[in-house]
Amino acid sequence: MRGDVWAFPTLAGKAYEKEKTAHPTQKPEALITELIKAFCPKNENGQYEGTILDPFHGSGTLGVCCEKLNKQGHNIKWVGIELEQQWCDVANERLRNI
Ligand SMILES: C[S@@+](CC[C@H](N)C(=O)[O-])C[C@H]1O[C@@H](n2cnc3c(N)ncnc32)[C@H](O)[C@@H]1O
Repeated sequence: MRGDVWAFPTLAGKAYEKEKTAHPTQKPEALITELIKAFCPKNENGQYEGTILDPFHGSGTLGVCCEKLNKQGHNIKWVGIELEQQWCDVANERLRNI
């Protein structure tokens, strides 16, 4: 288990210009991926699996991280809910680019 405090850089500066969207409280993919790995079970082949509900999907970081892991052979199902159409559009664009 990791400790109580997890340190991740904010999505500021040139290093994150490709990842950052216009969403004001977008979370870093590195952080969300760590959370997925911390809480999803692994199957007998050592791949992460399970289903995650993100009821505040925003710019779609959870979906993006799940799909990137799935491209590596993991099997994570996810559902994202977002109130504002503009952030759904951003999420869909990010997902299309994977
Ligand atoms: C902290 S942001 C999520 C950021 C997201 N993790 C990301 O990386 O982009 C919270 C999101 O929840 C949405 N939201 C707020 N109330 C909601 C509701 N009742 N149902 C669905 N989405 C809601 C907001 O529009 C906002 O985009």
